[in-house]
Amino acid sequence: MASTSPLARRQFIRSAVAGAVAAPALMANAQTQTAPAASGATATPLRVGSDNDAAPSAAFKAQDIVRPLQIADLNDLENEARKVMDPGAFAFISSGSDSQWTLRENRAAFGRIAIKPQYLVGKPAPDLRITLLGQQLSLPVITTPMGAHGLAHQSAELGTARGTGEAGTLMTVSTAANRTIEDIAAATKGPKWFQLYLADDLSKSRDLLKRAEAAGYSAVVLAIDAFAPGSSDATLRMGFQFPANLGLVNSGSSTFKKSLSWDDVKFVKDNTRLPLVLKGVLTPEMAQLALEHGVAAIQVSNHGGRQLDGVSAAIDALPGIVDVVQKRVPIIMDSGIRRGTDVFKALALGANAVAIGRPVLYALSLGGWMGVKSAYDRLKAELTRDMLIAGLGSVQEFNRDFVMRAPGQGAS
Ligand SMILES: Cc1cc2nc3c(=O)[nH]c(=O)nc-3n(C[C@H](O)[C@H](O)[C@H](O)COP(=O)(O)O)c2cc1C
Repeated sequence: MASTSPLARRQFIRSAVAGAVAAPALMANAQTQTAPAASGATATPLRVGSDNDAAPSAAFKAQDIVRPLQIADLNDLENEARKVMDPGAFAFISSGSDSQWTLRENRAAFGRIAIKPQYLVGKPAPDLRITLLGQQLSLPVITTPMGAHGLAHQSAELGTARGTGEAGTLMTVSTAANRTIEDIAAATKGPKWFQLYLADDLSKSRDLLKRAEAAGYSAVVLAIDAFAPGSSDATLRMGFQFPANLGLVNSGSSTFKKSLSWDDVKFVKDNTRLPLVLKGVLTPEMAQLALEHGVAAIQVSNHGGRQLDGVSAAIDALPGIVDVVQKRVPIIMDSGIRRGTDVFKALALGANAVAIGRPVLYALSLGGWMGVKSAYDRLKAELTRDMLIAGLGSVQEFNRDFVMRAPGQGAS
């Protein structure tokens, strides 16, 4: 199918927004607005409009629009994004592979875990801050690596990086980004990690590692579970192709390695001074080997159900990995996180932090960097409320006493 250009897509966003907003009072230059404090009781308005990272035309800037989108839940973002995104791009981002069983499991598995609150414990307002591989974050949620943010918004990874940084947390940049890793690094004042897909020509990967170090990235994430962009039945049926103007500017014409071994893990460690995060770990056995190979952190992930369909939900894989790791390295978990209670359950099961994917791209498509910041604000408000009610004063107080198998649910 034909893909619209980023500019055309952006104009569509603008006209869709303008059509939806009746009150002229809601129209203002986005840069003059400040986001309202997120509250647990009401929906967080999602800011739509400003795209000053992408240097849009002066004419467009003058018409930047701010309107509240009533996003009560990050799940709502998917439906809203569907309305403004190119259908092929939306299918590419939203779908899982094959029968999408793993994609569904990523959400369903959270429904098999119940929270065990501790009331009457007199805890103050919870402190959400954490330190992850030496980086101080305002909440235990980070942006996971994803390729091709240009499919979602003209500002591409620059918008995501800025929104993530404004939320006080960490951006992971994919090798498959549409902007250079140097430009993305400059777009955020927050910390950032670089996710590497190894090239067949390892000298190209070595160069990328050096560039990442020079640009101020503080860790390298090696993804071990993917050898191609996610492929889904929906994109196959639509004949989706990446728009020609959305190039992989960092890897250029390099082809990615389709067979990885522990030697490749060693290669990365030998060719960077940065700590290594292994992403895609799904079994205790793999976690044990990762520790033996000196990784600095483990990211438990099934790639958001976009690669091998049939593997377990990442949240189900987490406890066994936590048991093996025994707090020797931090554990990040991604795949399916949408609500504060999901973050709560993952932290209670032993994750040090979680990472979010698709909601970030949906928020980017709807509101550029401010959309991304709004999504984080919403998640932060939910987690704050959940921890407050459940009797947790800080992220460090989480443990398995705060969760149980949901009554009536079989083993997953
Ligand atoms: C559009 C898209 C592109 C992705 N590209 C990458 C990538 O380049 N590198 C990578 O390690 N993971 C990639 N992922 C996987 C994410 O890092 C993460 O594992 C997944 O999105 C988490 O699930 P969630 O979307 O349910 O939050 C991608 C995910 C999406 C949705």
